[in-house]
Amino acid sequence: MDRILIRGGRPLDGEIAIGGAKNAALPLLAAGLLTEQPLVLSNVPRLADIATMRALIAQHGVGVAPLDDDGRTLAIGGAIRCTEAPYDIVRKMRASVLVLGPLVARAGEARVSLPGGCAIGPRPIDLHLKGLEQMGAVIRLEGGYVHASAPHGLHGAAIVLPMPSVGATENLLMAASLADGQTVIANAAREPEISDLAECLVAMGGRIGGIGTDRLTVEGVRRLHGATHAVIPDRIETGTYACAAAITGGTLHLRHARRDHLDAVLRVLAEAGVEVLEGDGGLTVRRLNGLRGTDAMTEPYPGFPTDMQAQLMALMAVAEGAAMITETIFENRFMHVPELNRLGARVNVHGASAIVRGVPTLSGAPVMATDLRASVSLVLAGLAARGETVVNRVYHLDRGYEAVEQKLAACGADIERLAG
Ligand code: UD1
Repeated sequence: MDRILIRGGRPLDGEIAIGGAKNAALPLLAAGLLTEQPLVLSNVPRLADIATMRALIAQHGVGVAPLDDDGRTLAIGGAIRCTEAPYDIVRKMRASVLVLGPLVARAGEARVSLPGGCAIGPRPIDLHLKGLEQMGAVIRLEGGYVHASAPHGLHGAAIVLPMPSVGATENLLMAASLADGQTVIANAAREPEISDLAECLVAMGGRIGGIGTDRLTVEGVRRLHGATHAVIPDRIETGTYACAAAITGGTLHLRHARRDHLDAVLRVLAEAGVEVLEGDGGLTVRRLNGLRGTDAMTEPYPGFPTDMQAQLMALMAVAEGAAMITETIFENRFMHVPELNRLGARVNVHGASAIVRGVPTLSGAPVMATDLRASVSLVLAGLAARGETVVNRVYHLDRGYEAVEQKLAACGADIERLAG
């Protein structure tokens, strides 16, 4: 297994190109199952999770063809020949469950392995299933698989989500696009990745109102057609590199980054003493003086994203004063805490909150990545730590960050990948 070696303590300086958003590209690839005609997606990031989704789509017999040399523009399309999403693929990536809605809507049935538990809590899919049932699908759970069937098609429904689940909103939005009649999804999640999906569905002939709000109305159509769509820039990658500039006391220009998707993160960073300026086709981030301890609580969008919680904690580990970081989205998302503490951080967890007491410096140590965002928080801490940090289990990082060590090294970080 690969590891990443970092010799910390160098301020970063330079420019990093922000790629397409992983969490937008995954449902967009699944949306390719909704039509026989080609859906052309550009700005698709090159990540392990995207490779997994491509393999899943190919497993359904639908083609995924790169249209450029580096595989960032993909054409998806063709007949669905198989409606099973097998355990071997789904266990690698929970977002595989996003094929459920499109398969049952277009092919009238789906057999999708249950994603099971994952490192950051139980993460059930009950809201996805309940919504599809309301739209007329018959759901059976058997042998670790969800069987969904709607041989005569889905119909519109009034769905109220008890919590604004990102994945459930996406699955139901895709299914509703091909259902008979009107579907209303109330208390829908409002993440920018959902609006990106909705806009792509509209380009494919879908009829969706309320995009960007918590009440989506979908007038189902008989067929969707092909379209061309560019994936939005990754707001979590942007926030992560903003933290890299801040934690090392450097300056980074984040090309393609969008400020409007990052309000809550930038508010917290500003309070912590980090300046972010818009211009030159992106955002320029630099630490002004010292970092100040700043509280934050994760919330559904437009609140502070849970996917930035671990990175903020790394930053607060070297801030002056204390910070309270509260996690409200996932039950068990503090696995990075003991690892940050191995690097000399002073973090205590009390229920859903972590108290971070800033220290003047961290010191390098071997650490273990446990999930995607936890891994990158250890890379950030390693960039600021004195001495050598080795991050083990880097495959987590490769799921969601493209060429992380190249991007950081190009800005002056002393970082390399050690082949395992
Ligand atoms: C998506 C993101 C993930 C991010 C998360 C929250 C993708 C591919 N992944 O994950 O990076 O951390 O949003 O912003 O976009 N829940 C249920 N029942 C359900 C569905 C969800 O109880 O049927 C709960 C989950 O356990 C969790 C909460 O709702 O506690 C939020 O989950 P959800 O918004 O669905 O996250 P994902 O779509 O899995």
